[in-house]
Amino acid sequence: MNRGYAIAILAAGLGTRMKSRYAKVLHRAGGQTLIELAVGAARRLAAPGQIHVVVGHQAEGVQQTLAGSGVQFVRQTRQLGTGHAVLVGRQQLQAWKRVLVFYGDCPLLTANTLRALQKRHAATRAAATLLTTRLVNPTGYGRILRGPRGEVREIVEEKAATPEQKAITEINPGVYCFETGPLFKCLASLKPNQAAGEYYLTDVIAGLVGRGLRVEALLVEDASQVLGINTRAELAEADAVLRRRKAQALMAAGVTIQKPETVIVDAGVSIAPDTVLEPFVQVLGRSAIGPGCRIGSHSILRDASLAGDVVIEAFSWVEDSRLGRGARIGPYARLRPGNVVGAEARVGNFVELKMTRLGARSKAQHLTYLGDSVVGADVNVGAGTITCNYDGVAKHQTVIEDGAFVGTHSTLVAPVKIGKGAYLAAGSVFTEAVPPGALGIARSRQTNKPGWAAQRQRRQTGARKH
Ligand code: UD1
Ligand code: CA
Repeated sequence: MNRGYAIAILAAGLGTRMKSRYAKVLHRAGGQTLIELAVGAARRLAAPGQIHVVVGHQAEGVQQTLAGSGVQFVRQTRQLGTGHAVLVGRQQLQAWKRVLVFYGDCPLLTANTLRALQKRHAATRAAATLLTTRLVNPTGYGRILRGPRGEVREIVEEKAATPEQKAITEINPGVYCFETGPLFKCLASLKPNQAAGEYYLTDVIAGLVGRGLRVEALLVEDASQVLGINTRAELAEADAVLRRRKAQALMAAGVTIQKPETVIVDAGVSIAPDTVLEPFVQVLGRSAIGPGCRIGSHSILRDASLAGDVVIEAFSWVEDSRLGRGARIGPYARLRPGNVVGAEARVGNFVELKMTRLGARSKAQHLTYLGDSVVGADVNVGAGTITCNYDGVAKHQTVIEDGAFVGTHSTLVAPVKIGKGAYLAAGSVFTEAVPPGALGIARSRQTNKPGWAAQRQRRQTGARKH
């Protein structure tokens, strides 16, 4: 037998109270699914081979979410209760001396608390040691029943509790260390709980006590850690706690966050010191932001990579794009996936980029669409320039070489290439290459008709007299 710990995370339930077509543990808080959060905490104490996730509802989805993590899966085909969920893992789990069990819907649990529980369990040498906490409103949680000397005797579920038991504020967060031997002995003889017809893991506590074995408890002060997610409202609470934790960690590491309660930063985001997040910013996914940047209010960055000193002005959207040092984006810019913006380049208001490279110091400041384009360095893209990259069937490339000057309201029908240092006349439609250094004009010549306005007026008054 392995003398260490196995970890069992129960995640087979649907989560009826979520009223969702997705399994509960696939919902997100702080930018991660609940199951990723649970496994994340477990990974801080154990190798993937020690971690066993009990899956059932949407097992494929849950396994896919954890793909590559190396954790083990146990299939619970029918969800007959938390006790049954542990029992289906018997074969794998009883290879270990001890097992730490917790639920996949408990996303605020920290590795430190799990470690403290293990430590207490090792010190007391009890058959089981469980976490408990006190809640002002304990409704919905199992209550801890203690004997005259304060010893843990039993956990009674909300459904089965008498009014006096419901008044008990010490609750069961659902985090337990068990000696696997006695645990599986009890589980094997467990009867379905009378109140619900399910096999309750919580009934194991009374089972162990009935066998003359000792159960110990570790009371945690910080009740916010053990919030179990059963409803969307609780999911929102957990999300708020995780956002606050992330903001606090970033601020501690030198990031300025204005109105942190309004800012949303996902768990996987990194931000270097002296970057400023203005109110209502969202930084999502795998974004990485360098030092000294400023992210303007209401901007949303997803999987964005920013070098140092980048400025994103308010109300901009940046997705899966790389921005070089000192680049300035927005306000009101939209960077769709696949852009590389060079150092000190500028992308201004109502400019959309998609799969485009914009060279160093190049500017597209107003009302422009650049798609599937390769733009060199020091290019000026005039207001209202549009690349026609799509012919209804396929996408085509626009190339604009270094130092070119693209006049206002140019239409570039791809594939098309503008040579180095070329000038494009405003309001032109380009369907052919413009050679380096040339001036390209593609519009009809202007004609002026002198005195035309007065002639028209005379014609109109003459017509009215007749
Ligand atoms: C459970 C506890 C309760 C505790 C609370 C803490 C039991 C009987 N009750 O109640 O004492 O206060 O958590 O949040 O354990 N699951 C399975 N297979 C099943 C049933 C459940 O894997 O057959 C999983 C669920 O996916 C979930 C977890 O176990 O992640 C807990 O189940 P849930 O139904 O949410 O239990 P609670 O009613 O919250
Ligand atoms: Ca629950």
